[in-house]
Amino acid sequence: MAFISGELLNEISMANDIVDYASSFMQLKKSGRGYMACCPFHNEKTPSFHIDRDKQLFHCFGCGASGNFVQLVMRLEGLDFHDAIKQMAERAGIVIPENGVREVNEITRKKERIYEMNKIAARFFYDTLMDPEKGRAGREYFAARRLSRKTVIRFGLGYSPDSYDALLAVLKSRGYTDNQIVEAGLAVPGKRGAYDKFRGRVMFPIINARGKIIGFGGRILGSEKLPDGKRLAKYLNSPETPAFDKGSNLFALNLAKHSNEKDIILCEGYMDVITVHQAGISNCVATLGTAITEAQAKLMLRYGREILICYDMDEAGTKAALRAIDIIASAGGKSRVIRITGAKDPDEFITKYGVSGFKKAIDKAMPSTEFRISLIKREFDLNDTEGKVRFVEETAKILAGLSDPVEVEAYIKRTVTDTGISEQSIFGKYKEIKGKEKKPMPARDRETFRRRELNRVNTDKAPEEKVTSTMLEAEKRILSLMSKSRHLCMRAYDIMKPEEFSTAVYIKLAELIHKESQAGGIIEPASIINEFSGNTESENLAGAVFFNREEYSDEEKTLYDLIYTVKLNKLDTKIKAAMDPREIGELLKQKSNLAAERRSWPTNI
Ligand code: GTP
Ligand code: MN
Repeated sequence: MAFISGELLNEISMANDIVDYASSFMQLKKSGRGYMACCPFHNEKTPSFHIDRDKQLFHCFGCGASGNFVQLVMRLEGLDFHDAIKQMAERAGIVIPENGVREVNEITRKKERIYEMNKIAARFFYDTLMDPEKGRAGREYFAARRLSRKTVIRFGLGYSPDSYDALLAVLKSRGYTDNQIVEAGLAVPGKRGAYDKFRGRVMFPIINARGKIIGFGGRILGSEKLPDGKRLAKYLNSPETPAFDKGSNLFALNLAKHSNEKDIILCEGYMDVITVHQAGISNCVATLGTAITEAQAKLMLRYGREILICYDMDEAGTKAALRAIDIIASAGGKSRVIRITGAKDPDEFITKYGVSGFKKAIDKAMPSTEFRISLIKREFDLNDTEGKVRFVEETAKILAGLSDPVEVEAYIKRTVTDTGISEQSIFGKYKEIKGKEKKPMPARDRETFRRRELNRVNTDKAPEEKVTSTMLEAEKRILSLMSKSRHLCMRAYDIMKPEEFSTAVYIKLAELIHKESQAGGIIEPASIINEFSGNTESENLAGAVFFNREEYSDEEKTLYDLIYTVKLNKLDTKIKAAMDPREIGELLKQKSNLAAERRSWPTNI
């Protein structure tokens, strides 16, 4: 069987859609954020088979079947791994070359080559900026925007000379061909050969979380309006290349990831981000000239607890903020909105009101729900009966999308104050809208599934190592929290090492999640589960971890509580199985030590 690298696998998986595929095998019904059907792997009348479109995973709460897309194809069609991949590639029109390895190496090589070329280009732009003559215009521009030399260096900013072949000549002298330079997005093909893409612009290198330069943004020096009435694109960004995926990277994440702030600030513009950093606030990033994607939201949530949206205050910015709130919510995160009243963008706001003004605005950031309600409030006349009715209805729609009942109640109370309509009526409206949405799955199936899972985990285990259902459920939750953010993963890792989990699959999962977190990558459940391919039971066990739909109001505290539960349970099992009084004494001592140790765990910050 030819080796197919994770990269090609990802490409093939991404080109397919698990929901689309599954719908030709079963009748799918939309449910919440996912889909449900009667399980194709066991007999049932009420659906307990779930598909999570975002994660591209499936899971049956009835029989425990679980896994990623490839694994679903394998099981539904009785194919081996390689044939399943081939089938999926065909569906997506991707040609797997004779030798899967060569193609994969080719993609990786291309990426590496683009990183190298980008590095040379960044150096060249920087050197040009610093050149007394050639860089004057660029330096003057940055000075007019009040950027210090330190900031310029910190962001590796540069200047592209107004020439058609200055960078080309440098890259060619280093052995790169025209084609390769075009492929890197640093030149464009023309009738008489390739020419430099970036000319006469100040340059912003875009660096990923792993520190590689993946592309550039280039800004013209003046205003976008040309004297003869024509317009010039203010910003020119590198095109998408094998190394540059605009939807899954963020400007300045390489810096923001080292910030100690608990949240991440999201701005629209590169200049906004740079000004914010220069003001000493380093947890700030921006998208790459495109609207925010779910992948970007997830990436930010790996480094921050909440995302503080800091967009322009005009209509376009408000619309973009609403979109961002939605995307962040569907990525499973919370957001707030920083309102920079009195300025058109954060850059101008800081110039006008200073760092202290901006810090105040951060502190006053509005929870996304409040922000949304405040916007619809402007639309209706609350002195008018019809206006009140419509306002309550729109508010109820927003509240129906929330998962925290406390939050719902708080906003209902506020709506009572705003409109004078009774809490009961507003709650009724909320329930009516909410009721149309989803139904939980039957408790009986969930129980059966848990029992089976537990039995499987416990086969071949000595009495003192037996796993209890409390332990298994707690470990599952710990892993799912660890996969949510780097912060939570590191917190867990400090007090519970992978080998402390009680089954081989969980140990490996903990290792993989920790490794990926440490490297600064995004946890992609579907690709992590690939590591378990070939063993149905392991796939099931691993897949179930990512189907934890619970929401915790305090994730960190929950994490510590769960870890404590597991450790305590383990000791109790050992105590129950122990015969020797001395051993029992020793275990009891460990138990009281554990309680003492717990008090030293940071509970809440
Ligand atoms: P300044 O005008 O220098 O203050 O820039 P800014 O960084 O504040 O940008 P602005 O708020 O005008 O736009 C936000 C982001 O949208 C920019 O950082 C770019 O990523 C992108 N953008 C703006 N103008 C253009 C354009 O003409 N073309 C493209 N492709 N992207 C643009
Ligand atoms: Mn600006």
